[in-house]
Amino acid sequence: MCGIVGMIGQDLTVKRLIDALKKLEYRGYDSAGVAFCDRNGLNVRKAAGRISVLENSLGDEIESNILQGIAHTRWATHGGPSDFNAHPHTDCTGKIAVVHNGIVENFDRLREQLEMNGHVFKSATDTEVIAHLVEDHYKGDLVAALRHTLVDLEGAYAIGVIHQDQPDVIVAARKGSPLVVGCTNGSGYMASDVTPLLRYLRDVQFIEDGELACIRSGRVEIFRLDGSAVVKSPTKITWSEDSAEKGGYPHFMIKEIFEEPQTLRNAITGRIRKGLPYFRELEPLKETIEKAGSITVLACGTSFHAGLVFQRFLQDYAEIRVDIDVASEFRYKNLVLKEDDIVVAISQSGETADTLEGIRKARRCGAKIVSLTNVVGSTISRESDAVIYINAGPEIGVAATKTYVAQLSVLLLMGAGLAMIRKPGNGEIFQLVNEIEGMPTVFENVLSSADEQCQRLAREYYQFRHFMYMGRGYSYPTALEGALKLKEISYIHATGYQAGELKHGPIALLDRDFPVFAIIPEDGLKSKTLSNIMETRARDARVVAICSVDDREVSKIVNSRIEVPKVSPPLYPLVMSPFLQLFAYYVAVARGYDPDKPRNLAKSVTVE
Ligand code: M6R
Repeated sequence: MCGIVGMIGQDLTVKRLIDALKKLEYRGYDSAGVAFCDRNGLNVRKAAGRISVLENSLGDEIESNILQGIAHTRWATHGGPSDFNAHPHTDCTGKIAVVHNGIVENFDRLREQLEMNGHVFKSATDTEVIAHLVEDHYKGDLVAALRHTLVDLEGAYAIGVIHQDQPDVIVAARKGSPLVVGCTNGSGYMASDVTPLLRYLRDVQFIEDGELACIRSGRVEIFRLDGSAVVKSPTKITWSEDSAEKGGYPHFMIKEIFEEPQTLRNAITGRIRKGLPYFRELEPLKETIEKAGSITVLACGTSFHAGLVFQRFLQDYAEIRVDIDVASEFRYKNLVLKEDDIVVAISQSGETADTLEGIRKARRCGAKIVSLTNVVGSTISRESDAVIYINAGPEIGVAATKTYVAQLSVLLLMGAGLAMIRKPGNGEIFQLVNEIEGMPTVFENVLSSADEQCQRLAREYYQFRHFMYMGRGYSYPTALEGALKLKEISYIHATGYQAGELKHGPIALLDRDFPVFAIIPEDGLKSKTLSNIMETRARDARVVAICSVDDREVSKIVNSRIEVPKVSPPLYPLVMSPFLQLFAYYVAVARGYDPDKPRNLAKSVTVE
């Protein structure tokens, strides 16, 4: 899970390459490197640490004009983070440089053979075998050399290769890891995703598994492994470059939380007609949906929590059985799916390896795949029967925030749509859809108070070392997501529980140093959660509640509270989201951490 970028053509400098690489830093940031050809040949510079370390080490060289270059920001898999293991990797002649995102699974065997044939390795990475294989296969044609190399590789890759004897070309290839290419009149580009390219172009081509791209100034050619040419039309990207920048906020995470009203607007635009949900993308599957005996949802992390809300909603309103699994478990299960069963895959990035393998397995059983993703052209979107985009724009902070609210709003609408198909005439659906339509305004009105309340709360609680989040019904996924947000960016141990489960074990943990975050909206389960709060107070635990506005019952029995507007029960996970995200954000900042780049995490988990 790394970021790669490559550029060739007019007015190119090392700085341009580094600036483009920074847009991919969310994909991994334990080391970085760049390889470029200038009139004197190939140069490689790399450094352990963030891209800024590499940048500082370059000194004046950063302004040098270059003919072409490739760069890499790393999230280590094989070989720890170090200068040596940072990419690009080179061959024995020092003329070939390679960047790679993915894992070469058979690298041990390949390395052994290469070493027996006299190749000398400089790193402990799997990637270096690619550079040596290209060296062996190079006979003056870099495309052919990479094509022959790929035959030997098992595993996943997005690769960029340059050769000092061919400074007019970058060759790239993909299997299992994302890769996008494009060109303008005098330049050519490749990258792991579109964000570094937005400054230069809007029409891009997504490389598919088993394809190679030959990138020159002003021209990109795509080939299959057998050498035949691929002709594909470009995809137009509508994201603005600004949307990928911080816009005056100290971190992307807070900027992205404050974008949520607009994110919601974008997510639901075009999805409501005459007061009812409208999903054109699902029309070809209408008959299958009508007949479906059950639906299976799969996802990971935050997307899984959105899936739990969807599950509950469908069970409540569409009266259909919904199974849900985290994709890393689902993919290794004996599936009992039947032909034409529906599988809904939720993935912000559309590249999560477990989710991708999950849908591949489900497809082999004959299931129809509906995916919900944010990234146009992502692998999951391309391998689905129907794709629903959440249109949240790029999310740079590693913690999912605005994309979670976009997922929830679209899933609730989709759930309402399915409910109308399966149980037409349910008046409550009109009311819920109407409320969802009003959510962007509710968010606009609530954000500044949420910000204030959460800053205050974070000041009170940032020094605690543990947190228990609890909730029932729709609030259980909220408890899980609140706990995930807190732990992933503030490194406080936090766990989410069904409130009724506490007494079956976890309550033993509670004391004055172990606060409880109670998710207690105005719904049919409130009285039950009130009792659970009393149980935790009796164990001396401090209780923070997130409840609906002016809730006297709750305010009387808790130590601190934050208040959210009153909405219908299924919409509380949505309206509570920015509060829990802001709380986690301010706690992380108070503890001195960078919430955009939590340790050990990367935005898109494209390895198993
Ligand atoms: O791109 P995906 O939605 O498939 O990603 C799934 C998880 O990796 C992701 O939600 C992760 O849990 C985030 N760190 C949550 O903030």
